[in-house]
Amino acid sequence: MAIQRTFAMLKPGVLQRRIIGDVLSRFERKGLNIIGLKVMVIPPLLATTHYAEHKGKSFYNDLIEYITSGAVVAIAVEGDEAIQLVRRLCGPTAVCESLPGTIRGDYCLHTNHNIIHSSDSPESAARELRLFFQPNEMVPWQDGNEQWM
Ligand code: PPS
Repeated sequence: MAIQRTFAMLKPGVLQRRIIGDVLSRFERKGLNIIGLKVMVIPPLLATTHYAEHKGKSFYNDLIEYITSGAVVAIAVEGDEAIQLVRRLCGPTAVCESLPGTIRGDYCLHTNHNIIHSSDSPESAARELRLFFQPNEMVPWQDGNEQWM
């Protein structure tokens, strides 16, 4: 068992579509713990730092414009193998490949508006959590029902 922390972000438009509860409940139903949650508008510098590895790609400018275009929901998640589990709950980046039952498979029509980001490795998770949360904004908690998960 490897307890991990990971970062996920609901992108602009999710608030307006009023589906935050559904996405969060998928993490909860899986047994993952939400330990940090924040509604925010991402400043341009944070957006370019977060997506630095994609600078120069054809979609980069559109991605920065989209991610700064409205409020997002930053989420810190904790649980056994949380990084890979959250990625699988989200589904693949390309919406044509994300199966029904995944978040992207159920809610996204276009890859460039794929509604959710999640960290893809322990290194990205640590880096992204640091970018979006102060240490005291993440509150780990014990699940009394853990033995039944
Ligand atoms: S890639 O092509 O391997 O770099 O793509 P990936 O690492 O999966 O994700 C790149 C992020 O850019 C967002 N994005 C797009 N990716 C691919 N194609 C298009 N057209 C595109 N537009 C935007 C994609 O959603 C990834 O961001 P996150 O926040 O992780 O979803």
